[in-house]
Amino acid sequence: MKPRDLSHHIAYEAGRGIEEVARELGRDPSSLIKLASNENPHGPSPAAVVAMRDAATTVSSYPKSSHTDLVSALADRWSVTERQIWLANGGDGFIDYLHRATLEPGESILVADPGFAYYGMSAHFHHGEVATYSLSKADDFAHTADRILDAYDGERVIWVTSPHNPSGATMDLDAIERLAANTEEKTLIAVDEAYGEFADGPSAVALIEGRVGFDAREDIAVLRTFSKAYGLAGLRLGYGVVPDSWGTAFTRVNTPFAASEIACRAGLAALEDDEHVTRTVDTATDARAAMSEQITAHVWPSEGNFVLVDVGDATAVTEAMQEAGVIVRDCSSFGLSGCIRITCGTESETDRAIETLNEILERAELEGADA
Ligand SMILES: Cc1ncc(COP(=O)(O)O)c(C=O)c1O
Repeated sequence: MKPRDLSHHIAYEAGRGIEEVARELGRDPSSLIKLASNENPHGPSPAAVVAMRDAATTVSSYPKSSHTDLVSALADRWSVTERQIWLANGGDGFIDYLHRATLEPGESILVADPGFAYYGMSAHFHHGEVATYSLSKADDFAHTADRILDAYDGERVIWVTSPHNPSGATMDLDAIERLAANTEEKTLIAVDEAYGEFADGPSAVALIEGRVGFDAREDIAVLRTFSKAYGLAGLRLGYGVVPDSWGTAFTRVNTPFAASEIACRAGLAALEDDEHVTRTVDTATDARAAMSEQITAHVWPSEGNFVLVDVGDATAVTEAMQEAGVIVRDCSSFGLSGCIRITCGTESETDRAIETLNEILERAELEGADA
């Protein structure tokens, strides 16, 4: 027996962990900071931590009421019906559910290049194909409807990441609506708002529901996650908001008990913990401003909890930063070999990242001048 032919599947490359890097460098993990995976520098919502501890003794039962309660709390939060909320094992789990619910074998999705790798991986698992639309460094990764429509060829799902990973650029609701209005009826626009809490504009849920001056649409779905603003990345909890008319498809595609008892209890507590979200968003806003003002290389404007920086040789700079104890993301894996992505840290972490990067850039410049 062999697995099916997986040779055209790519393996997901996660950002590197502190322990892993510390072991490799023979260093004490506490001397390193990790700004590579867009995690929350303030940790999990404290209210969620209490809820997780309390829930620990009940995990001998399958999650029933906690699952129902979280769906209901999220439906309230977005003013939608309960069947419009699809709970999942992280936002990644929702990507899988959406593909299971939409793709017939051989159908395609259209995704951004550069962009988040998991859309394509998931489409392949679900016997789909992947086409891309390009976003360009030269025009600041502008997400226009025309750019995507130029590449569109009747794909079943178009993924729009807003804020976009790794650039932090956004696509406004007018442009998303124009995209949806100019694609075939069978095409779904899936808007990934994993970083939505850090952005200024309204969620694309407004387009599903016909709010803020838009007509309601049945061809838009929105991904959200507890991994970023709520600090629960290790728990794996995310969800989608889909149109009411096909929300019940979830019951036919979901993994039984899509989110664990502990995850559901933590999610319920985190949703109430506005203080933690506000603090997290404020920290990210300050860190973005500090990095764009003080880093001596070009920093793209970002509405996420990270910034993309044009450093010239991303691999060399990432390695030098790691040597200096700051782990950042080399964006070569996104096809951006000149760029690194730095997650917004606490004030002191961000200051250390700025200082370290500026020193490395200055050194490279001096060495270039000497050569
Ligand atoms: C754009 C984007 N979408 C979705 C996800 C998935 O997040 P999670 O599965 O942790 O909810 C990520 C994670 O980094 C992301 O960057």
